[in-house]
Amino acid sequence: MKSANLIIILILFGSSVVIAGTSSHKHAVHSVNPEMKKQHLAMSTIGKQWKVCKKALDEKNFKDAGIAVDTIINKSADINNFKLHKNRDKQQFIEQSNAFREEVIKLTDAIKTGDADAAESASNSVEESCRQCHEKFR
Ligand code: HEC
Repeated sequence: MKSANLIIILILFGSSVVIAGTSSHKHAVHSVNPEMKKQHLAMSTIGKQWKVCKKALDEKNFKDAGIAVDTIINKSADINNFKLHKNRDKQQFIEQSNAFREEVIKLTDAIKTGDADAAESASNSVEESCRQCHEKFR
């Protein structure tokens, strides 16, 4: 009787370890997936549109550059909600993200006025802003 109790206790203990192990594993996978996918997607859209924008600027095609830059501004609204894996200073991240948006807005204005020099200089500032954020947070 006593050893049967011991066996039951061992079985219960063993299975709770297995359950705890499985659920923490599931939790880790679960908490990474949906949000990470969303932010991957937001950033890869920004990356693609940025290429489109630069190419259009090279060709002095301000219409397409303007469309690309508008898409970037719309997508950039998602950046503040990113879950950070590297450097979790969220306050600094949000400042970086706001600074980025300001640079993109300056570029939009330059594109609207069709000023190629202003657009080129604004475009360099935007790219610098991408680089700075990636250096700290990507
Ligand atoms: C405020 C911070 C911030 C700014 C500004 C920023 N990025 Fe990112 N970027 C990130 C972070 C963080 C990741 C990693 C996201 C992840 O995968 O979870 C990333 C990932 C990427 C990726 C990889 C996307 C993928 O497939 O996962 C590309 C491409 C990219 N950024 C391009 C750009 C370009 C181009 C700009 C500027 C026009 C830019 N980013 C501006 C923070 C930023």
